[in-house]
Order: sequence, then structure tokens, then C-alpha cells
Amino acid sequence: MEKPTDQKILSGVQPSGVLHLGNYLGAIKQWVDLQEGNTAYYCIVDEHAITVPYDPKTLPDRVLDTAAMYLAAGLDPNQSVIFVQSHVPAHTELAWLLSTTTPFGEMNRMTQFKEKKAKQKEQSTLGLFSYPVLMAADILLYQANIVPVGEDQTQHVELTRDIAKRFNSTFGEVFTIPKAYIPEGVARIMSLTDPKKKMSKSDSDKSYIALTDEPDVIRKKIASAVTDTKPIFSFEKSGSAVKNLLTIYRAFSDSSTEDIEANFANKGYKEFKEELADVIISALTPIQERYKEIRVDEAEMRVALGRGAHQAQSVANQTLHRVKEKMGLM
Ligand code: TYM
Repeated sequence: MEKPTDQKILSGVQPSGVLHLGNYLGAIKQWVDLQEGNTAYYCIVDEHAITVPYDPKTLPDRVLDTAAMYLAAGLDPNQSVIFVQSHVPAHTELAWLLSTTTPFGEMNRMTQFKEKKAKQKEQSTLGLFSYPVLMAADILLYQANIVPVGEDQTQHVELTRDIAKRFNSTFGEVFTIPKAYIPEGVARIMSLTDPKKKMSKSDSDKSYIALTDEPDVIRKKIASAVTDTKPIFSFEKSGSAVKNLLTIYRAFSDSSTEDIEANFANKGYKEFKEELADVIISALTPIQERYKEIRVDEAEMRVALGRGAHQAQSVANQTLHRVKEKMGLM
């Protein structure tokens, strides 16, 4: 996939606990590549994180953890606008306006809502249901045309496109129609314990590798990752468990598919897993070192986030102003 240039990019991650390898490979790693040569907005979507039960006392820390991880992974506040969603009130205001144009039936089709609702049972809220409209507002406020996300967010970006097109044809042209930018090969990193499910922070600790996991924890988690009965190392022929591990290996090593398959052709799972843990640890160690340095300086992070919010606000308010005018709000 050719790297886009001169585009407007927006994406975000929920500050709902530790970030894992899926978040990094599926999203944040692409954001780092895209920030150069494009106008990029990366937010920490705290208003999305409160749509499921959460602890208000620890939320500010989770936001700062996420911000520190953005910076440690290579996002540069001099190149990208990095900000907290709730610091820019235009997000919730546009979400309300867009919710009045979004048919209930379209929202009812959102698979992520159905999955989360099944987990929450009677506790699921209106906010959880309307979550994708807030996501549409995040994207449309900045006139983003490229939205780098993992595969699980495709349906939400499709909904955003429909919302934007409908608004433009009903009220007049305001919004750029965005497109999801899904990375090749790593769009859906699977759980280490159940390769039928995507890697997710809401599953057991053993199922994911957190970006902050220490080397011995990474080795243990990889050692206990499920595999297939026969050790075949092939991106085509291996079962889904090994294919997932090979995918992670390829993403963190500079080796080609052919070299990886040849390297492991005569090896067993034990050796493969040791080498896999090694490549993950050597990629994460420098990120973890930077994370520790950045995370202790909360004052500096708050200043950077304040600056980001200020920059985001001036763009977001212009779009919001045009939307209100078109909708006939005085
Ligand atoms: P969230 O916080 O669940 O995940 C953040 C990003 O990580 C990607 N991701 C994965 N990619 C590959 N394999 C996995 N196992 C995996 N798990 C997560 C997600 O696809 C996502 O890109 N609704 C969004 C947050 C959001 C947003 C936005 C994104 C709010 N507003 C506007 C883009 C634009 C979410 O819940 O992501």
C-alpha cells in the first residue's frame, strides 16, 4: 500500500487500560508513519471510554498513560495534533447534531454495539448505542479523509461515510467523505489464547501482550500461546493460531514472508516462540524506556495536551460553525 501524502488524518484510541500489540500494530504504528507529510490529528477518546462501566478516579491516569504511550511510540506533537477528546467540546456538540440525522435502523446494525451490549447486559446505555455517532463527529470535524484503524472499526468508518454523505446532500456540502486506512497483514491481531477472537484488553491477561509488559512476562505469554497440533510455519497453510504468531513475528522483524518460513521450516514451536519473544522484546524495549521517561513528567504532558486541544479546537469550531449554519441554528 502506497503511503498517502498531503492528506488529513484522524484517529483515536480509548484510554481504557493498557494498550496492547493489536492497538500498536493495527493503529498506532501506522499513525507514526502517516504523521510525516500529512496533517494528522490523534486523539485520546475519553468520552468513548465512559460508555462502559469505568472508574472515574483512575480515568485521568489512563488518559495520561495513553498520551505517554502515543509519544513513546513515536508520535511527535510538533508534527501531529495530539489531544484529549473531552477538551474539545465540539465533538459532543456535533455528535448531537449528527444524531438527529442518523436513522435508528442504521445504528441497530452496528456489530460492536451488539457485542458490547451482550457483555454489559442490562447496564448498556444510550451512550454505548450512540458511540459510533460520536466517532463520526471525531472524524468529520477535522475534514479527515483518511482514518487509520484496525479492521474492527471498518463498520464505524462506513457509517461515518453514510452520515457525511447524507448531511451533505440534505443540508449542503460541509463534510469531506473519509476512508478507512486498514494496514495490510496486521489489521486484526488475534488473541494468544483463542485465535478465533481478536486481541482485546477486555479478555484475560494471558490473551494479549501489553505494550508495557516486562520481557519475562512477554516470554511467558508467548510460551503459553496456543498453537496447532503440527508445527507448520506457513502464512498460507498454518492454522489460525500459528498464522497469528507468524504475523506478529513478521511485523516486528524486518524479514520477508519467505525468509521467515525458510528460517523456521526445520524448527519446533519452542524455538519459534523464543525467537518471537526476542523480536517483540527488542521492538518494545525502546518504547518502554521512552514511556517511563515521559510518563513521570505529567506537567509537561498536560502542557502538550493543552496545546493540542487549542490547535484542534480552532479547526473543529470552524466545521461546527458551518454545520450549525446549514442546519438553521441561529
Ligand atoms: P479502540 O480503542 O478499541 O482501539 C484502538 C485502535 O486499535 C485497533 N485495534 C486492533 N487492531 C488490530 N488488531 C487488534 N486486535 C486490535 N484491537 C484494536 C482498533 O481498530 C483501533 O484502530 N472506536 C475506536 C476509537 C475511536 C476512533 C475515533 C478511531 C473513537 N473515535 C475516530 C478512529 C477515528 C475504538 O474503540 O478503538
